[in-house]
Amino acid sequence: METEPRAYWDEEAGPRWAEAQRMIDRVLEPVSSTLVERAVPASGELVLDIGCGSGALSLEVAGRVGEAGLVVGVDVASSLVEQARSRSVGRPNVEFLLADAEEDPLPPSDLVLSRFGVMFFRDSRRAFANLRRALDERAGRLAVACWQSVELNPWITWPMAALGDLADRLERPVDPHADVPGPFRFADRDRLEQVLRDAGFVDVVVEAVARPLVLAGSAEEILGFTRRIGPLSRALGQLDETASGIALQRVAARLAELHDGREMRLDAAWWVASAQAG
Ligand SMILES: C[S@@+](CC[C@H](N)C(=O)[O-])C[C@H]1O[C@@H](n2cnc3c(N)ncnc32)[C@H](O)[C@@H]1O
Repeated sequence: METEPRAYWDEEAGPRWAEAQRMIDRVLEPVSSTLVERAVPASGELVLDIGCGSGALSLEVAGRVGEAGLVVGVDVASSLVEQARSRSVGRPNVEFLLADAEEDPLPPSDLVLSRFGVMFFRDSRRAFANLRRALDERAGRLAVACWQSVELNPWITWPMAALGDLADRLERPVDPHADVPGPFRFADRDRLEQVLRDAGFVDVVVEAVARPLVLAGSAEEILGFTRRIGPLSRALGQLDETASGIALQRVAARLAELHDGREMRLDAAWWVASAQAG
């Protein structure tokens, strides 16, 4: 992610994620379930969904906190916040805020949740301290999902493995596990635990989840999704027209092997980190 992370999400990735919303929500639904099982949002609670994207988790949790509760989804990408707002028309207990969760004041809450929205902060300690400030001092709690390592997530990396020698023409990527904004920043469990403790959280528990994720749809639909979201979208931008055409042929050939006619199922692994505000 070479661009400043907020601008990257607002200008580049946000619009592509908005287009791919249906596929993203289907494939990541099991991740929402692990968060909800861990955090158990209760009727009447005030919940923040950090880096809410187009709002799937916020909408699901709104169903659990009921009319007496409120879910506020927070995101820096204007296209995603717009999409989330249009999906929530007629749902009075869910709102969406265009804000930077790292530094903007956040509404007071009982529970902070996030489905893959906390790996892109410029300064993680500062950002988690901001999230903690929003929580009720005694009873507030947090549950966030973050990807484990690249190696454990072929469902994200399979198109890159299909590129073969074309991968040598790409800019040398920074270490995907480096402590810089990126999906695998918290692949290291100790780093995730430490950043939560440094931000003042207590009773930190990081649970490992490993299970296949399912991309449902025709091979054509999945190829369209893979071109927009994830590492292939960045790789194609670095190749000339001819090389990019060959890359897509190779990815399509690998997809034909992995697709069973209805869907594609690949291994994935994420952490569910939970903690108390104090
Ligand atoms: C990987 S996407 C996940 C989106 C959504 N939670 C989902 O699971 O579909 C990461 C999200 O975090 C948002 N984000 C990144 N940095 C942020 C920040 N500083 N404050 C609020 N949102 C942020 C991005 O705009 C993006 O929507």
